[in-house]
Amino acid sequence: MVVSEHIEDLQLTLNSSRSAGKRIGFVPTMGALHAGHVSLLALARQHCDIVVVSIFVNPTQFNQTSDLTHYPRTLEKDLEILKENLCDVVFVPSVPEIYPDGLLRSHWDFGLLSTVLEGHFRPGHFDGVLTVVKRLFEIVQPQYAFFGEKDFQQLAHIRRMVKEERMPVEIISGPTLREPDGLAMSSRNTRLTSDQRTLALHISRILFVMNERRVEFDPPGLEQWGRAEFHMIPGIRLEYLEVIDGHSFGPLAEWSDSDYPVIVCAAYVGEVRLIDNVILKSESSK
Ligand code: PAJ
Repeated sequence: MVVSEHIEDLQLTLNSSRSAGKRIGFVPTMGALHAGHVSLLALARQHCDIVVVSIFVNPTQFNQTSDLTHYPRTLEKDLEILKENLCDVVFVPSVPEIYPDGLLRSHWDFGLLSTVLEGHFRPGHFDGVLTVVKRLFEIVQPQYAFFGEKDFQQLAHIRRMVKEERMPVEIISGPTLREPDGLAMSSRNTRLTSDQRTLALHISRILFVMNERRVEFDPPGLEQWGRAEFHMIPGIRLEYLEVIDGHSFGPLAEWSDSDYPVIVCAAYVGEVRLIDNVILKSESSK
Protein backbone atom coordinates (compact mmCIF):
# COMPACT_ATOMS: atom_id res chain seq x y z
CA MET A 1 0.00 0.00 0.00
CA VAL A 2 1.41 3.36 -1.04
CA VAL A 3 0.75 6.31 1.28
CA SER A 4 1.13 9.76 -0.33
CA GLU A 5 0.95 13.11 1.39
CA HIS A 6 1.77 15.15 -1.70
CA ILE A 7 -0.10 15.58 -4.95
CA GLU A 8 3.00 15.04 -7.12
CA ASP A 9 3.84 11.70 -5.44
CA LEU A 10 0.26 10.53 -5.71
CA GLN A 11 0.02 11.46 -9.37
CA LEU A 12 3.32 9.73 -10.18
CA THR A 13 1.96 6.49 -8.70
CA LEU A 14 -1.43 6.83 -10.38
CA ASN A 15 -0.11 7.91 -13.79
CA SER A 16 1.86 4.70 -14.19
CA SER A 17 -1.25 2.64 -13.30
CA ARG A 18 -3.36 4.74 -15.66
CA SER A 19 -0.98 4.28 -18.58
CA ALA A 20 -0.97 0.54 -17.87
CA GLY A 21 -4.75 0.70 -18.54
CA LYS A 22 -5.85 0.11 -14.95
CA ARG A 23 -9.27 1.31 -13.79
CA ILE A 24 -8.90 3.70 -10.88
CA GLY A 25 -11.57 3.81 -8.18
CA PHE A 26 -11.69 6.47 -5.48
CA VAL A 27 -13.23 6.51 -2.00
CA PRO A 28 -12.97 9.95 -0.35
CA THR A 29 -13.20 9.91 3.46
CA MET A 30 -12.50 12.04 6.49
CA GLY A 31 -10.89 9.11 8.31
CA ALA A 32 -11.90 7.56 11.65
CA LEU A 33 -12.69 4.62 9.44
CA HIS A 34 -15.37 2.04 10.23
CA ALA A 35 -17.04 -0.85 8.44
CA GLY A 36 -19.19 1.58 6.41
CA HIS A 37 -16.07 3.03 4.81
CA VAL A 38 -14.64 -0.46 4.33
CA SER A 39 -17.82 -1.53 2.50
CA LEU A 40 -17.19 1.25 -0.04
CA LEU A 41 -13.62 0.06 -0.44
CA ALA A 42 -14.93 -3.46 -1.13
CA LEU A 43 -17.40 -2.04 -3.67
CA ALA A 44 -14.53 -0.16 -5.34
CA ARG A 45 -12.55 -3.43 -5.49
CA GLN A 46 -15.39 -5.04 -7.45
CA HIS A 47 -15.32 -2.32 -10.10
CA CYS A 48 -11.67 -1.25 -10.29
CA ASP A 49 -8.06 -2.43 -10.46
CA ILE A 50 -6.58 0.28 -8.27
CA VAL A 51 -8.40 1.56 -5.18
CA VAL A 52 -7.45 5.00 -3.85
CA VAL A 53 -8.75 6.19 -0.46
CA SER A 54 -8.26 9.75 0.72
CA ILE A 55 -8.25 10.76 4.37
CA PHE A 56 -8.79 14.48 4.79
CA VAL A 57 -10.82 16.24 7.46
CA ASN A 58 -12.13 19.03 5.27
CA PRO A 59 -12.34 22.31 7.23
CA THR A 60 -14.63 24.08 4.74
CA GLN A 61 -17.55 21.69 5.26
CA PHE A 62 -17.82 22.18 9.03
CA ASN A 63 -20.27 24.90 9.88
CA GLN A 64 -19.47 24.62 13.59
CA THR A 65 -15.88 25.03 14.77
CA SER A 66 -16.46 22.68 17.72
CA ASP A 67 -17.54 19.88 15.35
CA LEU A 68 -14.27 20.31 13.42
CA THR A 69 -12.18 20.44 16.61
CA HIS A 70 -13.84 17.30 18.01
CA TYR A 71 -13.84 15.35 14.77
CA PRO A 72 -12.08 12.03 15.58
CA ARG A 73 -8.60 11.60 14.05
CA THR A 74 -7.19 8.08 14.12
CA LEU A 75 -4.68 8.00 11.27
CA GLU A 76 -2.54 5.08 12.44
CA LYS A 77 -5.53 2.83 13.00
CA ASP A 78 -7.04 3.99 9.68
CA LEU A 79 -3.89 3.00 7.80
CA GLU A 80 -3.96 -0.44 9.46
CA ILE A 81 -7.61 -0.91 8.43
CA LEU A 82 -6.84 0.14 4.86
CA LYS A 83 -3.86 -2.20 4.64
CA GLU A 84 -5.89 -5.13 6.00
CA ASN A 85 -8.57 -4.41 3.42
CA LEU A 86 -6.16 -4.31 0.51
CA CYS A 87 -6.32 -0.65 -0.35
CA ASP A 88 -3.70 0.21 -2.99
CA VAL A 89 -3.10 3.91 -2.50
CA VAL A 90 -3.89 6.26 0.41
CA PHE A 91 -3.84 10.02 -0.06
CA VAL A 92 -3.38 11.93 3.20
CA PRO A 93 -2.92 15.57 2.21
CA SER A 94 -2.35 18.52 4.50
CA VAL A 95 -4.74 21.49 4.49
CA PRO A 96 -2.38 23.73 2.40
CA GLU A 97 -1.96 20.90 -0.13
CA ILE A 98 -5.71 20.96 -0.79
CA TYR A 99 -6.27 24.68 -0.20
CA PRO A 100 -3.08 26.45 -1.41
CA ASP A 101 -4.94 29.78 -1.66
CA GLY A 102 -6.63 29.61 1.75
CA LEU A 103 -9.90 28.09 2.93
CA LEU A 104 -12.06 29.30 0.04
CA ARG A 105 -15.15 27.44 -1.07
CA SER A 106 -17.10 27.67 -4.29
CA HIS A 107 -20.88 27.95 -4.37
CA TRP A 108 -23.41 25.70 -6.05
CA ASP A 109 -27.13 26.28 -6.23
CA PHE A 110 -29.16 23.19 -7.00
CA GLY A 111 -32.50 24.72 -5.98
CA LEU A 112 -34.48 22.72 -3.42
CA LEU A 113 -31.72 20.12 -3.10
CA SER A 114 -29.36 22.80 -1.77
CA THR A 115 -31.75 24.55 0.60
CA VAL A 116 -33.72 21.85 2.46
CA LEU A 117 -32.72 19.51 5.32
CA GLU A 118 -28.92 19.54 5.72
CA GLY A 119 -28.77 22.51 3.34
CA HIS A 120 -31.05 24.45 5.70
CA PHE A 121 -29.52 23.39 9.01
CA ARG A 122 -25.86 23.41 7.90
CA PRO A 123 -25.46 26.49 5.68
CA GLY A 124 -22.36 26.27 3.48
CA HIS A 125 -21.82 22.59 4.29
CA PHE A 126 -22.50 21.25 0.81
CA ASP A 127 -20.45 24.03 -0.80
CA GLY A 128 -17.54 22.81 1.36
CA VAL A 129 -18.17 19.17 0.47
CA LEU A 130 -18.41 19.87 -3.27
CA THR A 131 -15.35 22.15 -3.20
CA VAL A 132 -13.19 19.41 -1.69
CA VAL A 133 -14.68 16.57 -3.75
CA LYS A 134 -14.14 18.53 -6.97
CA ARG A 135 -10.53 19.28 -5.96
CA LEU A 136 -9.93 15.62 -5.01
CA PHE A 137 -11.43 14.42 -8.31
CA GLU A 138 -9.10 16.78 -10.20
CA ILE A 139 -6.11 15.42 -8.28
CA VAL A 140 -6.95 11.69 -8.38
CA GLN A 141 -8.77 11.63 -11.75
CA PRO A 142 -10.66 8.43 -10.98
CA GLN A 143 -12.92 6.65 -13.48
CA TYR A 144 -15.22 5.65 -10.60
CA ALA A 145 -15.92 7.21 -7.21
CA PHE A 146 -17.82 5.61 -4.34
CA PHE A 147 -20.14 7.27 -1.83
CA GLY A 148 -22.49 6.03 0.87
CA GLU A 149 -26.28 6.36 0.90
CA LYS A 150 -25.90 7.16 4.62
CA ASP A 151 -25.22 10.74 3.48
CA PHE A 152 -28.18 10.73 1.14
CA GLN A 153 -28.27 14.45 0.34
CA GLN A 154 -24.48 14.59 -0.07
CA LEU A 155 -24.69 11.75 -2.61
CA ALA A 156 -27.40 13.64 -4.54
CA HIS A 157 -25.22 16.78 -4.54
CA ILE A 158 -22.22 14.92 -5.88
CA ARG A 159 -24.24 13.23 -8.63
CA ARG A 160 -25.68 16.61 -9.59
CA MET A 161 -22.29 18.36 -9.68
CA VAL A 162 -20.77 15.58 -11.77
CA LYS A 163 -23.68 15.76 -14.20
CA GLU A 164 -23.83 19.57 -14.50
CA GLU A 165 -20.07 19.98 -14.82
CA ARG A 166 -19.74 16.91 -17.06
CA MET A 167 -16.99 15.44 -14.92
CA PRO A 168 -15.52 12.26 -16.40
CA VAL A 169 -16.23 10.08 -13.37
CA GLU A 170 -18.96 7.55 -12.64
CA ILE A 171 -20.54 7.78 -9.18
CA ILE A 172 -21.45 4.48 -7.54
CA SER A 173 -23.31 4.35 -4.22
CA GLY A 174 -23.31 1.77 -1.44
CA PRO A 175 -26.01 1.05 1.16
CA THR A 176 -25.78 2.24 4.77
CA LEU A 177 -23.90 -0.14 7.01
CA ARG A 178 -25.31 -0.51 10.51
CA GLU A 179 -24.17 -1.87 13.85
CA PRO A 180 -25.88 -5.20 14.70
CA ASP A 181 -28.43 -3.29 16.82
CA GLY A 182 -29.35 -0.96 13.92
CA LEU A 183 -27.37 2.22 14.66
CA ALA A 184 -26.00 3.61 11.40
CA MET A 185 -22.21 3.49 11.48
CA SER A 186 -20.64 6.92 11.70
CA SER A 187 -17.28 8.34 12.70
CA ARG A 188 -19.20 10.56 15.11
CA ASN A 189 -20.51 7.53 17.06
CA THR A 190 -17.14 7.34 18.85
CA ARG A 191 -18.01 10.64 20.53
CA LEU A 192 -21.09 9.14 22.25
CA THR A 193 -20.94 8.06 25.90
CA SER A 194 -22.39 4.61 26.55
CA ASP A 195 -25.68 6.15 27.77
CA GLN A 196 -25.83 8.35 24.67
CA ARG A 197 -25.06 5.32 22.52
CA THR A 198 -28.16 3.61 23.99
CA LEU A 199 -30.25 6.74 23.34
CA ALA A 200 -28.94 7.03 19.76
CA LEU A 201 -30.45 3.63 18.99
CA HIS A 202 -33.91 5.21 19.05
CA ILE A 203 -33.06 6.97 15.77
CA SER A 204 -32.80 3.82 13.65
CA ARG A 205 -35.55 2.12 15.69
CA ILE A 206 -38.04 4.90 14.91
CA LEU A 207 -37.06 4.99 11.22
CA PHE A 208 -37.49 1.20 10.95
CA VAL A 209 -40.90 1.28 12.66
CA MET A 210 -41.97 4.14 10.37
CA ASN A 211 -40.95 2.00 7.42
CA GLU A 212 -43.02 -0.93 8.71
CA ARG A 213 -46.06 1.19 9.53
CA ARG A 214 -46.10 3.31 6.40
CA VAL A 215 -49.21 1.58 4.99
CA GLU A 216 -51.19 2.90 7.98
CA PHE A 217 -50.49 6.57 7.23
CA ASP A 218 -50.06 9.07 4.44
CA PRO A 219 -46.56 10.65 4.36
CA PRO A 220 -47.43 13.71 6.52
CA GLY A 221 -49.22 11.42 9.00
CA LEU A 222 -46.20 9.15 9.17
CA GLU A 223 -43.92 12.16 9.80
CA GLN A 224 -46.20 13.28 12.61
CA TRP A 225 -46.20 9.83 14.17
CA GLY A 226 -42.39 9.64 13.99
CA ARG A 227 -41.88 13.13 15.42
CA ALA A 228 -44.18 12.30 18.35
CA GLU A 229 -42.06 9.19 19.03
CA PHE A 230 -38.89 11.31 19.09
CA HIS A 231 -40.46 13.88 21.38
CA MET A 232 -41.15 11.16 23.95
CA ILE A 233 -37.42 10.57 24.37
CA PRO A 234 -35.65 13.01 26.65
CA GLY A 235 -32.00 13.38 25.68
CA ILE A 236 -32.61 13.40 21.93
CA ARG A 237 -33.25 16.69 20.17
CA LEU A 238 -34.81 16.11 16.78
CA GLU A 239 -33.73 18.60 14.13
CA TYR A 240 -35.79 17.24 11.26
CA LEU A 241 -37.70 14.12 10.34
CA GLU A 242 -39.26 14.14 6.90
CA VAL A 243 -40.59 11.89 4.21
CA ILE A 244 -39.26 13.22 0.92
CA ASP A 245 -39.13 12.27 -2.72
CA GLY A 246 -35.57 11.01 -3.18
CA HIS A 247 -35.28 12.62 -6.64
CA SER A 248 -36.58 16.14 -6.01
CA PHE A 249 -36.12 16.32 -2.22
CA GLY A 250 -39.59 17.86 -2.07
CA PRO A 251 -42.18 16.84 0.57
CA LEU A 252 -44.74 14.13 -0.16
CA ALA A 253 -48.47 14.60 0.27
CA GLU A 254 -49.38 11.12 -1.02
CA TRP A 255 -47.37 7.93 -1.50
CA SER A 256 -48.44 7.90 -5.14
CA ASP A 257 -46.54 11.19 -5.64
CA SER A 258 -43.17 9.41 -5.59
CA ASP A 259 -41.53 6.21 -6.84
CA TYR A 260 -38.58 6.88 -4.54
CA PRO A 261 -39.76 7.89 -1.05
CA VAL A 262 -37.10 8.30 1.62
CA ILE A 263 -37.36 9.03 5.34
CA VAL A 264 -34.55 11.38 6.39
CA CYS A 265 -33.67 12.50 9.86
CA ALA A 266 -31.13 14.50 11.87
CA ALA A 267 -31.01 14.51 15.65
CA TYR A 268 -28.71 15.63 18.43
CA VAL A 269 -27.77 13.17 21.14
CA GLY A 270 -26.04 15.46 23.61
CA GLU A 271 -23.64 17.53 21.52
CA VAL A 272 -23.35 14.93 18.79
CA ARG A 273 -25.38 15.44 15.65
CA LEU A 274 -26.36 12.21 13.90
CA ILE A 275 -28.11 11.70 10.56
CA ASP A 276 -29.84 8.63 9.22
CA ASN A 277 -32.29 7.66 6.49
CA VAL A 278 -34.33 4.77 5.21
CA ILE A 279 -34.98 4.42 1.51
CA LEU A 280 -38.50 3.03 1.28
CA LYS A 281 -38.21 1.81 -2.26
CA SER A 282 -34.96 1.33 -4.11
CA GLU A 283 -34.38 3.16 -7.37
CA SER A 284 -33.86 -0.16 -9.13
CA SER A 285 -37.35 -1.37 -8.13
CA LYS A 286 -39.01 1.50 -10.03
P1 PAJ B 1 -17.02 10.50 5.75
O1 PAJ B 1 -18.07 10.89 6.72
O2 PAJ B 1 -15.71 10.00 6.26
O3 PAJ B 1 -17.64 9.41 4.80
C1 PAJ B 1 -16.91 8.90 3.71
C2 PAJ B 1 -17.86 8.05 2.88
O4 PAJ B 1 -18.33 6.97 3.68
C3 PAJ B 1 -19.10 8.84 2.44
O5 PAJ B 1 -19.41 8.51 1.09
C4 PAJ B 1 -20.17 8.35 3.39
O6 PAJ B 1 -21.49 8.43 2.86
C5 PAJ B 1 -19.75 6.90 3.60
N1 PAJ B 1 -20.31 6.35 4.83
C6 PAJ B 1 -20.31 6.93 6.06
N2 PAJ B 1 -20.97 6.15 6.93
C7 PAJ B 1 -21.42 5.07 6.23
C8 PAJ B 1 -22.17 3.90 6.57
N3 PAJ B 1 -22.62 3.70 7.79
N4 PAJ B 1 -22.43 2.99 5.59
C9 PAJ B 1 -21.97 3.21 4.32
N5 PAJ B 1 -21.25 4.28 3.94
C10 PAJ B 1 -20.98 5.20 4.88
O7 PAJ B 1 -18.70 11.96 3.76
C11 PAJ B 1 -17.59 12.40 4.02
O8 PAJ B 1 -16.67 11.74 4.79
C12 PAJ B 1 -17.10 13.74 3.48
O9 PAJ B 1 -18.17 14.61 3.35
C13 PAJ B 1 -16.34 13.61 2.13
C14 PAJ B 1 -17.24 13.07 1.03
C15 PAJ B 1 -15.09 12.72 2.30
C16 PAJ B 1 -15.85 15.02 1.70
O10 PAJ B 1 -15.05 15.60 2.66
